[in-house]
Amino acid sequence: CGIVAYIGGKDAAPILLEGLARLEYRGYDSAGVAVTGKTGGLKLVKKKGRVADLAAAVPARFKGTAGIGHTRWATHGEPSDANSHPHLDTAQRFAVVHNGIIENAEELRAKLESEGVVFVSETDTEVLAHLIAAHAKDAAELEDAVRAALARVVGTYGIAVLDAERPDRIVVARNGSPIVLGIGEKEMFAASDVSALVRYTRQVVHLDDGELATVRADGFSTFTQDARVTAKQPSTVDWEEASYDTAGHAHFLIKEISEQPAAVERTLSGRVDERFATAHLGGLNLDAREARAFRRVKILGCGSAYYSGELGAQLIEELARIPAHAEPASEFRYRNPVIEADTLYIAVSQSGETYDTLAAVQEIKRKGGRVLGVVNTVGSAIARECDGGVYLHAGPEISVASTKAFTSTAVAFALIALHFGRVHDLSPADGRRICAGLKALPGQIREILAQEGSIAKLAAEYAQNAGMMFVGRVRGWPVAREGAQKLKEVSYVHAEAYPASELKHGPLALIGPELPTVAVVPDDELVEKNLTTLGEIRARHGRVLMVGHTAPDPKYAEDCILVPKNEPELDPILLGIPLQLLAYHAAVALERDVDKPRNLAKSVTVE
Ligand code: G6P
Repeated sequence: CGIVAYIGGKDAAPILLEGLARLEYRGYDSAGVAVTGKTGGLKLVKKKGRVADLAAAVPARFKGTAGIGHTRWATHGEPSDANSHPHLDTAQRFAVVHNGIIENAEELRAKLESEGVVFVSETDTEVLAHLIAAHAKDAAELEDAVRAALARVVGTYGIAVLDAERPDRIVVARNGSPIVLGIGEKEMFAASDVSALVRYTRQVVHLDDGELATVRADGFSTFTQDARVTAKQPSTVDWEEASYDTAGHAHFLIKEISEQPAAVERTLSGRVDERFATAHLGGLNLDAREARAFRRVKILGCGSAYYSGELGAQLIEELARIPAHAEPASEFRYRNPVIEADTLYIAVSQSGETYDTLAAVQEIKRKGGRVLGVVNTVGSAIARECDGGVYLHAGPEISVASTKAFTSTAVAFALIALHFGRVHDLSPADGRRICAGLKALPGQIREILAQEGSIAKLAAEYAQNAGMMFVGRVRGWPVAREGAQKLKEVSYVHAEAYPASELKHGPLALIGPELPTVAVVPDDELVEKNLTTLGEIRARHGRVLMVGHTAPDPKYAEDCILVPKNEPELDPILLGIPLQLLAYHAAVALERDVDKPRNLAKSVTVE
């Protein structure tokens, strides 16, 4: 979900709507805005649907110089006008927008209902509005009422509260769901994500968990849940505003796919040391002795971040010969994991805000483990929680489906693997081979992108099938998994990924003319084995699209996409790129909502 707030001399509504449009990738089931001004009273419009539907419903006379807005990814209650945020108290004095989940909402709701409060929605957020109203009766200030209400709440939240009787301020609070303040000239902003702010200011302040802030037109103050004042230093956001526009592309997804050569260059920048055949990663905060001491690596992430972690685990095992394994952070955190002192934990996240990943990091730290982050968003919750790490510098990723962050993460893992390899047993010659391979990646990605036209044609044909199988072996396996994920999330074509070697143990039963297979087949020591699998598929009249390095005999694959060859360890990074184009063009051919697939959100800041 996304939150935005404005207070200053201008009309709040257009600024809020613009901010919401930029946050829409965070959730897009419904949206709403509330404003207030010197004339008093709250004005509210909220609707099921997209921000554009909301903008069309906001009347011309919707004046107010302070306001809050929200775009929602439903958790409690279906997407509907009533369940949209902002939520009001009965007297319509307070408006609240909220990201996160109030765990004791049912209990609080029952208590409030027993006191005569009538609820108009099914959401946990409405509880907050009524609680604030209840505590406002004995509170001198809005801040006191919000603190008293939050003291009764168990759960996660990022909130913004508007008070019709205090139009000079907005109170925000963070606990497990991000809130960032934006400092303008005689105006202030707050949002759940800097992308809503960059058009207006680059000076931002990230709130910590348990922190609240009052924002006024002329400044802000921060304090804790027990009313202690905190000191915050603003930081400067360095991402270009242009990164938040499609810049002439039809969708963010294709823009971000196309940006990969530059994104990878930034991930590599200043980190490849050809002289000593290693990688410099100062942010890891590990000296060579410490880096050698780890016996195992455990990588955690969700969705595409998890799949990029699988690629990372493979790179670390291959180059550093340290056993490495990736697991969904969302599973790990719930199974009371054994945390070992000689295991290095690495959390992967584009947004740095995914709640399950953050919770996994916190659990590891609680048990004394060492966690590094591979994160794109500077200053995000996961980045701050980790003991060190590697920033991707891939630039903002807006499309819900991850592409450039996935590729940059794989590259970051190659750097980590090279670095660990060289403090273990990787030879200087092999180190130099990997350095040269890394440097060749951006140019080779450009070569793959140049094939977009022919891949688009294949995508339009393959998209006509009800489903697709994706297979790969060893290095090709994480690539196949991410390829299937990309296709299903943006085109809604059913896609199943299977290790090529396992096909004969079950899923071969599905293969036939109606279920084509995408096979990831690098030219490595397993190429013959892979071709045998393709032969088994063709013998069952399954159509095969092979992604690899050498055009196969047509008896193995009807269609093929060739990518330039790099070093065997780095080849998976390149093999993934055509699969992104395939998914994108399948979605376009099927006229899907490419950047905002149904039911999904860019970053899931709830459990
Ligand atoms: C959501 C997105 C996925 C993403 C995952 C992890 O589910 O829809 O595209 O891979 O979250 O996000 P993160 O920001 O932690 O990488």
